[in-house]
Amino acid sequence: MKKYRIAAVPGDGVGKELIPVGQKILEKLSAVDGGFQLEFEYFPYGCEYYLEKGHIMDPDGLDKLKGFDAIYLGAVGHPEVPDWVASDGLLYTIRKGFNQYVNLRPIRQLPGVASPVTVDGKVNITFVRENTEGEYGDIGGIFRENSSHEIAIQTNVFSRLATEKIMDYAFQLAQKKKGSVTSVTKSNALKHSMVFWDKIFNELSAKYPGIETQSIFADAMAMFMISKPQTFDVVVASNLFGDILTDLGSVLVGGLGFAPGGNINPEKEFPSMFEPIHGSAPDIAGKGICNPVATIWAGQMILEFLDEQPAADRLMNAITNVCAQGKVRTPDMGGTNTTQEMGDAILAEL
Ligand code: IPM
Ligand code: MG
Repeated sequence: MKKYRIAAVPGDGVGKELIPVGQKILEKLSAVDGGFQLEFEYFPYGCEYYLEKGHIMDPDGLDKLKGFDAIYLGAVGHPEVPDWVASDGLLYTIRKGFNQYVNLRPIRQLPGVASPVTVDGKVNITFVRENTEGEYGDIGGIFRENSSHEIAIQTNVFSRLATEKIMDYAFQLAQKKKGSVTSVTKSNALKHSMVFWDKIFNELSAKYPGIETQSIFADAMAMFMISKPQTFDVVVASNLFGDILTDLGSVLVGGLGFAPGGNINPEKEFPSMFEPIHGSAPDIAGKGICNPVATIWAGQMILEFLDEQPAADRLMNAITNVCAQGKVRTPDMGGTNTTQEMGDAILAEL
């Protein structure tokens, strides 16, 4: 029987309440399916670990995680730790260290889940966000710090290699889904990075002549995602544009409680990492009321990534059915149910 090792990193805040719920569901699926086993190992990394030990993740954390098939991350962030320290210490260390250059984010509307934005048709967008460089390139510094003449410089980094790879991934996905590819650009203003981005997008478009493409400026994209989100299919974007537009996108499908993501190394040289994209939510942490759907859906993405498609489909059906029935709803959905009750409802549906 196939056996997969999953590194569970609940992290901080609601992450701690959510990952065990997701684990229980994944274990149930492995029992029902019978064809694969999952072995979970927990890592205490996160901001509380930092407050105690001085680092978010052990210095040899990447070595410890390297042998796993996937990483199941809750969230990292804590009111007493600067946000960038939390992101640098774990999220970027893993995303960049394991060359998880694809950040795959489905924005899909489930029946029965309300959104403040009314859409004529179905929203089913797959965001392919570059995940290792671009605006998050990490080159820069603060010069003459704390003087009246202090200067901050943060340089964008766009390499041909990473840009080609992220676009290639988007085109291949569109080929599989028989859909189109939209490139998010800003070449009307960013005449170096985004003109380069467009050039490579044009090259890739020529390599996939059967796929319909369009380039849209990021500001216009923010508008069109509200006015006609049903027209988008696969969307490829740089790191920061993808970050912003996927939070926006989550609102179209019911909010961050319905927004999972995968940080993927397609070549499988390193483990890939799956997470809800909402963060640690300190305002509701500890109350047991966070919507676990994004985390459970991230678990579904793990199964899909491991090629356990029947189990992944079974889980997606269970999530969809529970939402469609509308009997169990967490506060973000306008209900009064708890994290546990939502998790149990999906478990029962399985
Ligand atoms: C995300 C998050 C992170 C990002 C934050 C926590 C640094 O917003 O995964 O979308 O910007 O990448
Ligand atoms: Mg984000």
